[in-house]
Amino acid sequence: MNAVQPQTAAPSGTALRMQGISKRFGPVQALCDVSFAARAGTVHALVGENGAGKSTLMKILAGVYQPDAGSVEIQGRPQTLANPAQAIEAGVSMIYQELDLAEQLTVAENIFLGAEPQGPLPWTVSHHQMAIQTRDLARQYDFDLDPATRVEDLSTGDCQIVEILKALRRNASIIVMDEPTSSLSERETVRLFEVVRQLREKGLAIIYISHRLEEIIELADEVSVLRDGQLVHSEPMAQLDIPQIVHHMVGRELNDYFPARSVEVGPTLVEVSDLSSEAGIDNVGFDVRRGEIVGMAGLVGAGRTEVARAIFGVDKKTSGRVILNGRELNIDSPSDAIASGIALLTEDRKRTGLCLELPCSYNITLPNLEQIGMGSLIKPTQEVRIAKEAGERIAVKWANPEAPTDSLSGGNQQKLLVARWLLANSTFMIFDEPTRGIDVGAKAEVYGLLNTLAQQGKAILFISSELPELFGVADRILVMRRGKLVGNLVTKETTPEQVMHLAAVEEN
Ligand SMILES: Nc1ncnc2c1ncn2[C@@H]1O[C@H](COP(=O)(O)OP(=O)(O)OP(=O)(O)O)[C@@H](O)[C@H]1O
Ligand SMILES: [Mg+2]
Repeated sequence: MNAVQPQTAAPSGTALRMQGISKRFGPVQALCDVSFAARAGTVHALVGENGAGKSTLMKILAGVYQPDAGSVEIQGRPQTLANPAQAIEAGVSMIYQELDLAEQLTVAENIFLGAEPQGPLPWTVSHHQMAIQTRDLARQYDFDLDPATRVEDLSTGDCQIVEILKALRRNASIIVMDEPTSSLSERETVRLFEVVRQLREKGLAIIYISHRLEEIIELADEVSVLRDGQLVHSEPMAQLDIPQIVHHMVGRELNDYFPARSVEVGPTLVEVSDLSSEAGIDNVGFDVRRGEIVGMAGLVGAGRTEVARAIFGVDKKTSGRVILNGRELNIDSPSDAIASGIALLTEDRKRTGLCLELPCSYNITLPNLEQIGMGSLIKPTQEVRIAKEAGERIAVKWANPEAPTDSLSGGNQQKLLVARWLLANSTFMIFDEPTRGIDVGAKAEVYGLLNTLAQQGKAILFISSELPELFGVADRILVMRRGKLVGNLVTKETTPEQVMHLAAVEEN
């Protein structure tokens, strides 16, 4: 008898080899002579600070951008990836941060888009065949998806599964996931990880981009680090830990990740009581004192954002009072809220935050002109200078403040929103997931910023899905579950387990 085959399929050959890739956008050298390879049957994490070039490299692989120099080989064969169709043909599927499914179509129609099985007559489509094949495909991965559901009725997590099935239907050998978990719930994340492992077992190469380094530790076989458009490191995960990865990413040690809190907490500044809204929050009450950072934890859908929206006058309140500085506020719209001294930094930069086609400087100053006392008299040069200063305080990476906002990397767009509120003269500041999608260095700066704002005597409500940062920054942690406030804990006297328990466990 021959030797027994090893149980786990050894990762076979190189699935992807990108060599000497360079790409310039106007004055910005996004990628400089990058060589990157990924093996079949592995998860290869691609990490780096905001603007390091991760998405650009992957968009070149996906045929969205053309490199200025360099070559791409897939399964040993040289490729010209002149457009997305050619990349798909070559076996590359990209799952974007912003999913791009046809919302009006069903699950099956999306999966077979452009390759519909023919029906009994020429020019007809067999919906029956599509449904059967979709179900078969889903079953292989233990997904419970009805092929006839419209995509617009699915959760983000399920949409992602549809994207993955679509990739599999196209026989992808390389799947790229760009920050796939940034808007998933805990449970959906666990499911996604299982899928990624299954894909790896089937011999696919998975390229996985994330700013959550704990995920990288859990999933990746290999890690490559981009810094300022250059590939600075590539190593098996087993030989690395988080501090080492961070070191490669930022080029220095990052010791004071969470700022030392030395703020004198003052008298109560904000009192929210009996707050209910049409969006489903139910009788929420809490207070925030001057100089205090109050965190808010909860699972996706627990109603944290809705609390912020009710306070800020976006959602209609059905009951409740908000008292600021001893005065009861009468807020019916965001402009009332802003005029009363409340700021809300929203989590969704695309939908509620930024005008992508306008220059960065506009997005920093425009919504604030009155609050920063400039009215309509502002000179463009002054505006750019003010925006530049605010942007530099949190290290926004841009060609210049007048560059169009959509030329910035995702994380740098997020920073613009933070810069905007640096200028606003508010006393109660609500931050809803301010660090989503931004890199470790910028996260540290946001934490430092929260701390500084608290030191200036502001009251801060900090909504986050990442417990480590709540524990690192907040004085108290509120816990939401199903629209209700179920915990109000002093950070020093509680544990992440306790918070998770309150957030997840159902009564009775
Ligand atoms: N279409 C574009 N036009 C101009 N500049 C661009 C364009 N796309 C990217 N850039 C610039 O190229 C650089 C790399 O951006 P990229 O989106 O690849 O970064 P990233 O590593 O994905 O960052 P993040 O973690 O924030 O998503 C950035 O400086 C960005 O501003
Ligand atoms: Mg990106």
